[in-house]
Amino acid sequence: MSIPAPTDHLAPAIHVRGLEKSFKQLKVLRGVDVDVARGSIFALLGSNGAGKTTVVRILATLLKADRGEARVNGFDVATHPVDVRESISLTGQFAAVDEILSGRENLVLVARLRHLPDPGVIADDLLRRFSLTDAGARRVATYSGGMRRRLDIAMSLIGNPPVVFLDEPTTGLDPEARIEVWHAVKELADGGTTVLLTTQHLDEAEQLADRIAILHEGRIIVNGTLDELRRLLPPGEVVYVEKQPTLEDVFLALVGAGTDKEQR
Ligand SMILES: Nc1ncnc2c1ncn2[C@@H]1O[C@H](COP(=O)(O)OP(=O)(O)OP(=O)(O)O)[C@@H](O)[C@H]1O
Ligand SMILES: [Mg+2]
Repeated sequence: MSIPAPTDHLAPAIHVRGLEKSFKQLKVLRGVDVDVARGSIFALLGSNGAGKTTVVRILATLLKADRGEARVNGFDVATHPVDVRESISLTGQFAAVDEILSGRENLVLVARLRHLPDPGVIADDLLRRFSLTDAGARRVATYSGGMRRRLDIAMSLIGNPPVVFLDEPTTGLDPEARIEVWHAVKELADGGTTVLLTTQHLDEAEQLADRIAILHEGRIIVNGTLDELRRLLPPGEVVYVEKQPTLEDVFLALVGAGTDKEQR
């Protein structure tokens, strides 16, 4: 698959202005403005029903906006949906993997569907990158939730799309599996891919994102780096507090972040 070259290489990977969307009487998006720089990780936060998935679906050309402008990889989602689709991948909350096939067979199948040369080589490379080599020959039905999610993200990367949408990539995963997915996402951005992820886990945004935006009542109410967001609140008073380990610290210390992930 050849990915269409954007018309303007300096333009942000994602550019959204005045995006509006209603479902009947329900005004979900009331004028969303966002820019995402190329090669960066951008986290979109918001409560249940804030409209995060709606934004992602519009950007992925699965849903039409009522008003406003959205460009992905330089292409307008309304006028150039095919170019947009060839520039992106979308991983939703529910893994789109085939249970009957093995992990490797899933990857080979997608590479074939995309008419790429050497599907086996592509599959083996992705299995390695996502620490699934040992499990590659096993049926996906036997995989843990974290392994499925990693395989799902790996499948979405076939063809190296420059822009990746991850809608709640770690919802339902245990702490170790989340960390594994985070590593995979960081690697993607290090390789130059632009990542827009939605999450309700604030620590996920803290760990991963170069910039964080909060969607609330149909608009982006803040957008900045973690430091910029922190500065929005008055500096904390200095008080002596004995630092207790978090439950996550305890869990990871007991279970061990370094256990062989193929076994889970
Ligand atoms: N196709 C649709 N028809 C009618 N209402 C919809 C449709 N899609 C979304 N909605 C409504 O729009 C609002 C925003 O939904 P959306 O899925 O974008 O929220 P979200 O921020 O992704 O929430 P969550 O955190 O629960 O995933 C919700 O009230 C939802 O019920
Ligand atoms: Mg959602």
